[in-house]
Amino acid sequence: MANTVHVALGERSYDILIGDGLLSGELTRLSAKLKLGRRCAIITDSTVRPLYGATVRDALAGAGLQASLLTVPAGENSKSLKVSGELYEHLATAQLSRRSFIVALGGGVVGDLAGFIAATYLRGVDFVQAPTTLLAMVDSSVGGKVAINLPQGKNLVGAFYQPRLVLADLALLRSLPEREFRSGMAEVIKYGVIYDAKLFELLEQRLDALMAKDMAQLAPVIARCCEIKADVVSQDERESGLRAILNFGHTVGHAIEAVAGYGGYLHGEAVAIGMLAAARLSQKRGGLGAADVARIESLLRRAGFDLTLPAVPFAKIIAPMRVDKKAVEGKLRFVLARRIGEVFVTDAVTEADIEETWNVSRR
Ligand code: NAD
Ligand code: GLY
Repeated sequence: MANTVHVALGERSYDILIGDGLLSGELTRLSAKLKLGRRCAIITDSTVRPLYGATVRDALAGAGLQASLLTVPAGENSKSLKVSGELYEHLATAQLSRRSFIVALGGGVVGDLAGFIAATYLRGVDFVQAPTTLLAMVDSSVGGKVAINLPQGKNLVGAFYQPRLVLADLALLRSLPEREFRSGMAEVIKYGVIYDAKLFELLEQRLDALMAKDMAQLAPVIARCCEIKADVVSQDERESGLRAILNFGHTVGHAIEAVAGYGGYLHGEAVAIGMLAAARLSQKRGGLGAADVARIESLLRRAGFDLTLPAVPFAKIIAPMRVDKKAVEGKLRFVLARRIGEVFVTDAVTEADIEETWNVSRR
């Protein structure tokens, strides 16, 4: 039985289906129901292709669709203009028309890249997100942010472009390396902190089973995360306000990723450190109690995150925060917690606050 979460965005609304073993069957059934066209390109990466590429292509072919499988190298570097150019040419050579659709079969890298291609090829074709990492299932496949990187920075070219459908097949998580799975768990914990104290409590109770990929326990947790993201995105699709709360822990997290060089830390590993920093700043400026800071730290540690700050001077870590997309007119914008389950966006955090937190955390 699949859990279904609806993303309510008027004519751009869509469903997220979450279940164990649903991908091939639901993709063929729903592509027909949604009238997605008879031709498609599955975009995947070099790690996911040998695991699941042929199964998905064959399932579509078995239902009479013409499906081609396009593979990009695994890793962040594929979110580039160069790889995008190659993909556009493949699509044009294969004569994919506006009636065709694209399936993004992979983690956040493939989802962002294939979504960007779908948003721009022939001024936009339908696309389906088939996320294969925990991070992609709870975060990047939902909400329509699609982008590629420039040498100057991450996600600098992109669009808001919603998929027609998201199919999160938990069976695919079985092959996901533990470190990648843990990285996704940082975003799961984030949803508890920003929106749902009950979810946070449930994570405290069931973390061990979740980390052991107990699918029966994971399914409702992933569904709840998708529900929260759907709720936020349907109120603020283009991030004019509320959507920024999804960035809890990300201001410091992004700075750590930038300073360490992308690849040094997985996204969730940097966000975990960023969430602890944000929790401490929340104690100082947001009224979060010391006991709640301790609960956040303890859950992150139990999930196996190393929360040691990178050995870089404060001046290096603050520089990327000043150019953070959330910074407005030179003021830093932070997402802080009032209590577990409730956050707000503020520009009341000063560089001195961050420096103090940084230095205290290093002791
Ligand atoms: P990823 O896509 O690089 O996947 C991580 C690694 O796991 C890759 O090597 C991949 O090949 C491998 N992999 C994927 N699925 C697998 C499976 N089932 N079994 C075995 N191996 C598998 O990384 P990610 O963490 O999923 O995504 C990170 C990207 O997501 C970043 O580019 C980030 O900018 C983006 N992102 C986007 C949004 C958004 O809203 N659009 C939100 C968060 C992150
Ligand atoms: N990952 C943040 C967002 O989708 O807005």
